[in-house]
Amino acid sequence: MVRIYHGETYEAMSLRAAHIIAAEIHHNPACVLGLATGSSPVGTYKNLVTWVKNGELSFKDVQTVNLDEYKGLAPDHDQSYRYFMDTNLFNHVDIDPANTRVPNGLAEDLAAECAAYDEMIASLGYADLQLLGVGNNGHIGFNEPDDHFIKETRVVDLAPSTIEANARFFASADDVPKQALSMGIGCIMAARRILLIASGESKAQAIYDAFCGPITPKCPASILQLHKDVVVVADRAALSKMLEAGATVAENGLVTI
Ligand code: F6R
Repeated sequence: MVRIYHGETYEAMSLRAAHIIAAEIHHNPACVLGLATGSSPVGTYKNLVTWVKNGELSFKDVQTVNLDEYKGLAPDHDQSYRYFMDTNLFNHVDIDPANTRVPNGLAEDLAAECAAYDEMIASLGYADLQLLGVGNNGHIGFNEPDDHFIKETRVVDLAPSTIEANARFFASADDVPKQALSMGIGCIMAARRILLIASGESKAQAIYDAFCGPITPKCPASILQLHKDVVVVADRAALSKMLEAGATVAENGLVTI
């Protein structure tokens, strides 16, 4: 079941998403959080950091598993996802660094690294709450549009549109790694709850296709329609296609398709 909430702006989306994550931690202080990188969660993480600094929230016993990492980037590379997580969240909260996990993009044996990542997530009992962004092309993690859904964590070729979208973080598109290690659809769907956040016009088609269209690996996020507990929090621009198609927003922000 998918519930969609509207937050007028990026800030409103980020606040609502942060409340959902904080509630998960309050319910289960030793929860396993699946985490994402990119522009979408920056504001969400800022709110969480503020609440930890204010003493309202603690990550002391929280475990985290990240979705993905670029192949070939060292953890201290300023565009690696390990660096992103450290600088946007982990370094500013009371989490035990040993409880944070990001795939190793420098692993010599990448197949073994990916298999071990899946085993590690299974041994944690899968994520209690998995945070996702969504690509302009409907990808989740780096599960790009394909002919079939792939369950396992693996090395993926990034779609040209993903490389183009992520070029904003690098000196040029040529500097964007062409491959990444990505959690597969299996571990994502095994999460107890899923929270997907989306902001901006460039996500409007993906959000429409994912939740108003058919379930197809051509839009990987559409598989979330089969999950029992998904909340989507999106700003007005990201919901624009859905709203144009007749979706309505209730006073509490709940969107009815
Ligand atoms: C990041 C990830 C990706 C991003 C997606 C959206 O860990 O798995 O799926 O969530 O590419 O990226 P932004 O938020 O930068 O638009």
